Amino acid sequence: IRIAILASGTGSNAEALMKKAQSLNSVEVTFVLSDKVGAGVLEKALNLSVRHFVVTKQSDRREHEQRVLNLLREYRIDWVFLAGYMRLLSLEFLQTFNGWHGGNSQVVNIHPSLLPAYPGVDSIRRAFEDGVEESGVTLHLVDEGMDTGPQLMQSRLPLEAGESLADWSVRFHKLEHQTYTQFLELVALGQIPTSPFEET
Ligand code: GRF
Repeated sequence: IRIAILASGTGSNAEALMKKAQSLNSVEVTFVLSDKVGAGVLEKALNLSVRHFVVTKQSDRREHEQRVLNLLREYRIDWVFLAGYMRLLSLEFLQTFNGWHGGNSQVVNIHPSLLPAYPGVDSIRRAFEDGVEESGVTLHLVDEGMDTGPQLMQSRLPLEAGESLADWSVRFHKLEHQTYTQFLELVALGQIPTSPFEET
């Protein structure tokens, strides 16, 4: 099972996924792709000997997505894991990719809130500033909206008494890594529908 990770930033989720995949037999992170030159995730991929690409912003979104799709097709990718990828994917992109998989949606994302609460950026800080008692992490299928696709897994993360935003954020990231790698294990175990590309 061949996975591509799309990420724009530091890549701590991507790193956790790459490491987990290297400990499992039936999945591999075939490549990491970033839309940002110099993104931390690229160095993490390099350090783990994972192939990595940069596809920077093009003047035309379709052109950008076409380049990404070309790589996904060339490397016969089964699953796309978004990990801090700061772009929305168009319906056309998703339908093309999903079309290779018999209509099963195969693009997933992790988000640090209990969606549908706090979609978009700065979710942890916004929840903290609102004084919520708990938030959490959501893993979901990706549609063309902002963090709106069908949910697959959710884990709660209560705010402890007196806990700072910084400390809570650290626990968030740990929980994201746990949730995403747990999902990767399910994919590896074939407990989630897989690929039309598998060799027969
Ligand atoms: C994570 O909080 C992820 O949920 C969000 O963007 C952040 C990426 O962090 N979508 P990292 O690059 O994986 O460290």
